[in-house]
Amino acid sequence: MESTGTVDDTFAGRTAIVTGGGSGIGAALAHRLAEHGAQVLVADLDPATAAKVAAEIGPAAISASGDAADDAVIAQLITTAESSFGPVDFYFANAGIGGGAGLDSTDAQWSAALEINTLAHIRAARLLVPGWLERGRGYFVSTASAAGLLTQLGSAPYSVSKHAAVGFAEWLSITYGDKGIGVSCVCPMGVDTALLHEGMIPENNAEAGRLAITAVKSAGVVLSAEEVADTVLAGVAAGEFLILPHPEVLQMYRNKGSDYDRWIRGMRRFQAALENPAS
Ligand SMILES: NC(=O)c1ccc[n+]([C@@H]2O[C@H](COP(=O)([O-])OP(=O)(O)OC[C@H]3O[C@@H](n4cnc5c(N)ncnc54)[C@H](O)[C@@H]3O)[C@@H](O)[C@H]2O)c1
Repeated sequence: MESTGTVDDTFAGRTAIVTGGGSGIGAALAHRLAEHGAQVLVADLDPATAAKVAAEIGPAAISASGDAADDAVIAQLITTAESSFGPVDFYFANAGIGGGAGLDSTDAQWSAALEINTLAHIRAARLLVPGWLERGRGYFVSTASAAGLLTQLGSAPYSVSKHAAVGFAEWLSITYGDKGIGVSCVCPMGVDTALLHEGMIPENNAEAGRLAITAVKSAGVVLSAEEVADTVLAGVAAGEFLILPHPEVLQMYRNKGSDYDRWIRGMRRFQAALENPAS
C-alpha cells in the first residue's frame, strides 16, 4: 500500500494494533494514532501499562495483554481488534527488549531477543498478510533499530535480532509491496524510554549494558518517544520504507556500505574510546 496522503488521511477511521504499547515508543504511537483518528488496540506483556495507556486515550482504544511473539496471542489480538473496531489496517510490531551482552549471552538471552525482536514480526506477518492480500491492503510497521543497520556495541543479541528484523521487513516489502501491502522499518538511535535506561543492562553483564547505553547516547541526540512517533506516522503516511528518526543514520549507513572495512575500524575505535575514555 503506497500511502502518500496526510497523516490524518492515512489513519482516520483505521484500525491499528501496537505491540509494546504500554510504554515508551509504543505508548507514544498509540496516543498519536488515536489523535489522528485511528482506533487502537494497545497490546503489551504488562496488562496494567497497556490498560493505562488505553484508558488515557479513551473510547478509541482498548487494551490486551500477552506475549507478542506467541502465535495464539497475536491471533487473539487480531480477533479482538477486528471484533471491536473492524479489520486490522496497521500492525505496529514494536515490542522489543535489549537482551544479553557479548559471547557470555546465554541461550535463553539469545532466544528471548530473537523471539520478540524478530520472530514476533514474522509470526504477525504470517497471520495478517493473507487477509491483507484478500482485502488488497494492509500495512506492517516494524520497530527495528539503527542497531539493525549498523550495530549495537555491547550487545550481540540485540544487534543480530535487529538486523534480522530489518532483513525481514525488506523481504516483506519487496515481496508484497506491489500487492497492496505497505511496510515501514523504523530504525532509531537513542530514544528516552525504559529500554535505554535499564532495559539494555543484562543481569549477567552490567558493564556491557552500560557500554551499550553510553554508545547510544554518544552517537547522537536522545529523542523523546513522542518525537519518534510523529516521525513514524509521517513516514508511514508518505509510504517510506526506511524511517529514520535520527536522519544522520543514513550517512552512517552509507559510510558502512561504501567502505565496510573502514567502517568496522571506525567502530572499533569508537568502542575503545568508550571503554578507555582517558586514552
Ligand atoms: N529506546 C531506544 O533507544 C530504542 C532505539 C531503537 C529501537 N528501539 C526499539 O523500540 C521498541 C520499543 O522500545 P522502547 O524503547 O519504547 O522500550 P520500552 O521498554 O519503553 O517499551 C517496550 C515495551 O515492550 C513490551 N514488551 C517487551 N516484551 C514483550 C513481549 N514479548 N510481548 C509484548 N510486549 C512486550 C514491554 O512490556 C514494554 O512495555 C523496541 O523494539 C526497541 O528495541 C528503542
